[in-house]
Amino acid sequence: MIYFDQAASSFPKPPVVAESMAHAVNAVGANPGRGGHALARQASGIIRDTRIKTAELFGCSNPKQVLFYQNATVGLNQAIKGLSWQKNDHVIASAYEHNSIRRPLEYIKEQFGVKITYVDNSKENEGGSFVKAVEQAIESNTRLIAMTHASNVTGRIFPINDIIALARKNRIYTLIDASQTAGHMSIDMTKQEIDMLVFPGHKGILGPQGIGVLLVEGKVHLSPIHHGGTGSFSSSPNQPKQLPEFLESGTLNTPGIAGLYAALIEYEKRSKEIVPRETILANLLCKGLEAIDGVTCYGPSSDTFRMPIVAFNIEKVPSQEVGMILDSHYNIAVRAGLHCSPLTHEALHTTEQGVVRASLSIYNTEDEVTEFISAIKEIVTSYKEF
Ligand code: ALA
Repeated sequence: MIYFDQAASSFPKPPVVAESMAHAVNAVGANPGRGGHALARQASGIIRDTRIKTAELFGCSNPKQVLFYQNATVGLNQAIKGLSWQKNDHVIASAYEHNSIRRPLEYIKEQFGVKITYVDNSKENEGGSFVKAVEQAIESNTRLIAMTHASNVTGRIFPINDIIALARKNRIYTLIDASQTAGHMSIDMTKQEIDMLVFPGHKGILGPQGIGVLLVEGKVHLSPIHHGGTGSFSSSPNQPKQLPEFLESGTLNTPGIAGLYAALIEYEKRSKEIVPRETILANLLCKGLEAIDGVTCYGPSSDTFRMPIVAFNIEKVPSQEVGMILDSHYNIAVRAGLHCSPLTHEALHTTEQGVVRASLSIYNTEDEVTEFISAIKEIVTSYKEF
């Protein structure tokens, strides 16, 4: 089969990911940070090494500020709901947010009377004017800019460095959702002056599902959204104040974290590529689709640096129908519909039709891209004949 649904979850993984997880389950097994015996210490070692490697690869100043959750959504919830909100505080997000940012923002709007501005600039490739639109949205009470690093629907990359510069000038915190960029392009919290960064293990990093990471820089104070056992200061009725325990309650996903560690080591080896292989393939795919009469492509053009995601439609055919044909007739996996990102579809005017999204990883090949383009040509022809 051709698996072009990598933006939903990557497949396959580097073999060391499953090996490392199996080792954590079969040979370690114990609870990290709970008990001083040899296996518990080994489990703690897995967690510690992964915090250190994550901090190193993402430029976080302190491994204790690397926090593990079950997925990126929980990390984003912790970051957004963990700030102390007051009525009329203001947040800026883009009009391209996944529901994992949009819904927590709508929650604080409802709970605390926070105002949200979703900056809409549908001219997908004009990074400059997008930054201007963000600048114009800033108010005296803007406290947070929460923004996706790249669209999960189109692969468009947002100019976060310029936006962070604006945020710093105006003393606004930044939260970057790197769900579609981590593992595909370099991110350095210290150099880029990012306050909070979130990414999942199972997408571009090629790690397992069930593990997401929130990295927080020192000056941000978050309150925990979950409370419970931490394996430390057990006699206290309150959450211990130090990180990571303050913001991490309950037993961690040690096998998932072990898998993440292995995936990070693999990522480190390929992280020096200036344009990742998967982006080159995605641009090739985009170029092939742009040339087909009857196909509309959305997002960056084929000569633009993008994340390995290509969004398109065939005439007025419902995107789900195309997804179904690709699956049943060609054994090709894509994701069609709204991609948990209805705001993006409003901006693209595709709420009714959705889009077909093909997303790639380092394990996809040029032959698969060629086969995919042929399949789309055949489908277009069959609709024209119909
Ligand atoms: N957020 C994932 C996607 O875009 C699941 O498909």
